[in-house]
Amino acid sequence: MAFPPQFLDEIRTRISVSAVVGRRAKLIRRGREFVCLSPFNNEKTPSFTVNDDKGFYHCFSTGEHGDIFTFLMKTQNLTFPEAVERLAEEAGLEMPRQTQAEAQQAVEGARGREAVEAACALYEQALREPAGKRALEYLQGRGLTEETIKRFRLGYAPNGNVVKTKFLARGVTQDVLLETRLLSPGKDGRESFDFFRNRVMFPIFDLRGRPIAFGGRVMDPEEQPKYLNSPDTPLFHKGQLLYGLALAREAVAEKKEIIVAEGYMDVIALAQAGFANAVAPLGTAMTESQLELLWRMSPEPILCFDGDRAGRAAALRAAERALPLLKPGMSLRFAMMPAGKDPDDICRREGPAAMAQVLAEALPLSDVMWKQLLSEHQTDTPERRAGLEKAVMAKAGVISDEAVQAQYRRLFKDRLFELFRPAPGAKIGPWSKKQGGKGNFSGNFRPQTSQKPVTTQRTSSDPTGQGTRERILLVTLLNHPGLRDHVEERLGGLSFADSRLDSLRQTALMHIAQNPELDFEALRAHLAKLGFAEELGNLLNSDIYVHAHFARLAASMDEATVGWDHTFTLCQRAELEADLKRAQEEMTENPSEETFAAFKALQDQVRPAGDLDGDEPDFDGTSHHKR
Ligand code: UTP
Ligand code: MN
Repeated sequence: MAFPPQFLDEIRTRISVSAVVGRRAKLIRRGREFVCLSPFNNEKTPSFTVNDDKGFYHCFSTGEHGDIFTFLMKTQNLTFPEAVERLAEEAGLEMPRQTQAEAQQAVEGARGREAVEAACALYEQALREPAGKRALEYLQGRGLTEETIKRFRLGYAPNGNVVKTKFLARGVTQDVLLETRLLSPGKDGRESFDFFRNRVMFPIFDLRGRPIAFGGRVMDPEEQPKYLNSPDTPLFHKGQLLYGLALAREAVAEKKEIIVAEGYMDVIALAQAGFANAVAPLGTAMTESQLELLWRMSPEPILCFDGDRAGRAAALRAAERALPLLKPGMSLRFAMMPAGKDPDDICRREGPAAMAQVLAEALPLSDVMWKQLLSEHQTDTPERRAGLEKAVMAKAGVISDEAVQAQYRRLFKDRLFELFRPAPGAKIGPWSKKQGGKGNFSGNFRPQTSQKPVTTQRTSSDPTGQGTRERILLVTLLNHPGLRDHVEERLGGLSFADSRLDSLRQTALMHIAQNPELDFEALRAHLAKLGFAEELGNLLNSDIYVHAHFARLAASMDEATVGWDHTFTLCQRAELEADLKRAQEEMTENPSEETFAAFKALQDQVRPAGDLDGDEPDFDGTSHHKR
């Protein structure tokens, strides 16, 4: 029996070649591929390569080439249907049952697909003809390059019934054209007509990159609707697909991150600006299937929203929808654009660096939820505080995964505790003007330090950011005790300005050294027992994750390592610069050969020798040399 190609694709999406081959042979990563000794014959040097992006393996010793299905057929002597059945079960998919009607449907599906592909090509072609000149200029006016236009196969739907006339003449049936909605059925006995007319066309591709539907944009702002989209058809189910997914796949695999924007143009502008790992839902709110599709590709998709009121409401809806579905390690992050801007605006007007910054500041789902709850409750009386507490715990109760729910309860409890605890030095009594309550957190999702008295205090006495860097180094290690070997020597050689944190640094290092197999939870528990509970609470709930995603528990070991190294370099440089500044003051106050030599030696470390032609000493570490 013939399996529907989407079904086989779905299995291929869920099970990687490396996962299947990895059970038979020891894989070694080499760049974007894996290599191993061929499971098909005896060999001494590895000649078997596996490419997950492309979904196949190649054996250079036998010349064989195949995918997960052929690998099982070959190594376990299965027939193709047997291999499909096994892998489908593993992937948690039901085997499709094929009836006569379904077979018929498959044939019709293929015809429909051909028609949509032909329309896509026609629209692309029309963009290059005189009638399409305005559409092409429109796209160019929005900053799109020729390469981008080709990559996304953008086009122009001419006015009139071009598709209808041409396709019927070619022998495509009216039924196929109606079913794929290339034609609209005429109402009240009138003739059918081209669905898309005089619009800039954005083809929508299925998971394999084949066009199955379209979005069409007007060129004049007065015309309505701005975007006309194909309705659902046998080929196209809006709620189960994301715009740009097929094109984004490779970049998602590479960056291990997926960006979700709101519209067609955002995805395209992001890709052109170097963020090829971007997708968008198709003009509707995010559905459960779309969330699941996203989580199959990346554990923490980043959703971008306009920072205005409507955008915040949309972010909240997405968070609410995701909450019951969260799984250990699987969440969402929320990048809030400045009000009134979308990723297209930011990429084009402010550049890729600004976009990267917005993405780096993305908030975890738990923060978005927490801030929303705070904004909905006053906290100035015991009853109101109890009300907040109840709402917060009810929200956590929505999460169906037990482990995640427990973590949310814990986090929320800690935050409530922190919130209700009087701020250090705050006046308590009837004369106190200080009031929590409505308006304080009015839905602003940007990081707000005012909520966290402890970190605020520290940041204000930390003008150089050195304290933050030290905390980042420590938190990264606490969340990834496996880093010890890599960082021990360097972290051991530092001394932190905050004496409590400094003793936490030493204790943590010592304890990990004595118990190398320790995981983060056991480590925290132990340190808490030793009296560092408060420091740990402050550190692990502080806003440093905004600066350092790699410090998070969810970050991979590789990210943590790279991030730690980078922070250490910055930390060291800042320390050196502080020393240099002190040496200069010392030299000015007490000029002698000795103080000059000390100053000079430090200066040479901060700035390589031979680079001193008349520059003023430079303390900010950015070393802008005038030449
Ligand atoms: P926006 O109105 O925010 O437009 O719609 P945009 O994406 O910034 O588009 P440009 O930059 O003006 O070209 C966001 C998304 O909502 C859907 C489309 O998917 C669009 O990309 N939409 C919008 C519709 O489906 N129909 C509409 O009439 C408008
Ligand atoms: Mn836009």
